[in-house]
Amino acid sequence: MVKAAILGCGAWGTTLAKILAENGHAVTIWCHNTAIAAQINARENKELLPGIILPDKIQASTALAETLQGAELLVIVTASQYYRQIVRQLKDLVPPDCLLLSATKGLDETTGKRMSEVLAEYFTNIAVLSGPNISREIAEQKPATAVIAAENMETAQTIQKLFNNSYFRVYTNNDVIGTEYGGTLKNIIAIAAGIVDGLQLGNNTKAALLVRGMVEIAKLTITLGGKSETIFGLTGMGDLITTCSSTLSRNHTVGERLAQGQKLAEILQNLKAVAEGVPTTKLAYALAQKTGTPMPLTEQMYGILYENKPIREAVAALMSRDLKA
Ligand code: 13P
Repeated sequence: MVKAAILGCGAWGTTLAKILAENGHAVTIWCHNTAIAAQINARENKELLPGIILPDKIQASTALAETLQGAELLVIVTASQYYRQIVRQLKDLVPPDCLLLSATKGLDETTGKRMSEVLAEYFTNIAVLSGPNISREIAEQKPATAVIAAENMETAQTIQKLFNNSYFRVYTNNDVIGTEYGGTLKNIIAIAAGIVDGLQLGNNTKAALLVRGMVEIAKLTITLGGKSETIFGLTGMGDLITTCSSTLSRNHTVGERLAQGQKLAEILQNLKAVAEGVPTTKLAYALAQKTGTPMPLTEQMYGILYENKPIREAVAALMSRDLKA
């Protein structure tokens, strides 16, 4: 049994803690928010995972040093916008030989780097976790799968064994790039899926969105060094299917509310947690331009989210693209 530290007390951080605790490990969750820390210590993250009773082996702390003391596994799952500033503070706090796992599905807002690339500025031997993982379903112990990727397969397999159980089946691979981009880029298409559902555009539109979305996610990921078998597996296509179908998804919710005519700023203000697809759209659009990768859906989502482009105009632009393009 290991001592695990989890940085980030959102629904996913809490669910990962629950999995580890149910596997017999001792877990401390670091929370920046004292109210959420108190709730977790009272056995329920009322704010973000209401109704889920947490095992006794989980405790919450608002002190990084206390959280990391004696940790043998560190999981970083904070929102991408805080990721770098938190990682910067860890250098002298992480015990030697502590396993490092990044589970945030976003990009660094200042550099556009993947989260594990940010972590690699400070540490070595890093693993990432991604997959079709709507937190609440896993917290309710509904069967789910995930992937742990690391350049060092031994590291991936060691962490796999800590998480794997009867309701959470964990696979491994060594394609960190593909695994991270799959989980990140699909959030752009999930916002678009929310728009499709919000406007009741129907199943043909949804199928077109998923398949053409998959094509552009694959193109960019492969251009940036990821493998096609990763992107067409659980952490690409699998996560795309789950997030584009789930009304529990924060990204899908943003899309639905945009379709209802709400303003983005107002939607984000009322959302309890971060929808990573919003900043990812901007960063992925820049990556597409830099690498000359055609990403028409991402381009239209950039227009909707950042240039006030009317949704109907974006749909019309996609449907009237040059047939030879
Ligand atoms: P959210 O849209 O709620 O962030 O969930 C997406 C996800 O990554 C599910 O696997």
